[in-house]
Amino acid sequence: MGKDVIIACDFASKEACFAFLDKFTGRKPFVKIGMELFYAEGPAIVREIKKRGHKIFLDLKLHDIPNTVKKSMAVLSRLDVDMTNLHAAGASSMMKGAIEGLTREDGTRPLLIAVTQLTSTDEETMKNELLIKDTPIDEVVMSYAENAMKSGLDGVVCSPLEAGKVHDRCGKGFLTVTPGVRFADGDVGDQKRVMTPAEAKRIGSDYIVVGRPITAAPDPVAAYERCVAEFCD
Ligand code: C5P
Repeated sequence: MGKDVIIACDFASKEACFAFLDKFTGRKPFVKIGMELFYAEGPAIVREIKKRGHKIFLDLKLHDIPNTVKKSMAVLSRLDVDMTNLHAAGASSMMKGAIEGLTREDGTRPLLIAVTQLTSTDEETMKNELLIKDTPIDEVVMSYAENAMKSGLDGVVCSPLEAGKVHDRCGKGFLTVTPGVRFADGDVGDQKRVMTPAEAKRIGSDYIVVGRPITAAPDPVAAYERCVAEFCD
């Protein structure tokens, strides 16, 4: 599985997204489409970006009963996305249903990645609202990752700081997809725990997800190429 840089296309409309993608005349980057753009533009946006030659990570974080997730994943698989995700909190029956739904008649399927605990949930919220009281948050994250692996998923979304631990627990082949990446000389913005692309590479991330350091750069193509040079080469 090749290491790659995935650009988070967090745009509110197709026009804004395409104005951005039009800048890439050479190499076609792997892009992440999230809920905002998907809910604004519908499945057509996926087909159009795919037609332009990009690989797509469709970040919709499914979480529902197994039957609903299975059927919804079958729809996403037909959109020919390359990677999609769900919440590991949906438990193993839901995750196994998702794999079944995603698997096409020819046996192929998009990569399926689990979200463990959202980084917006801290240990206090986990204890007081989710009533997970006796387990430290790091162990909850690792245990969810292990459940995902045992359910047949391909990897997890995690902080680059957790990528090494995930590989130790779940094996080198279990993918780590890591946001929270910033250039050493760049703005951190609202991300709290960040790493440079070079550090993410060193620690063993398989894919980095990079949004604003590329989308808000004066020269987005140069910023993307810098990420690729630091992370992939
Ligand atoms: O602009 P920035 O590089 O911070 O974008 C990071 C992307 O990764 C965004 O699409 C964000 O929603 C996503 N993400 C994240 N932290 C997580 C999970 C997803 O930043 N824990």
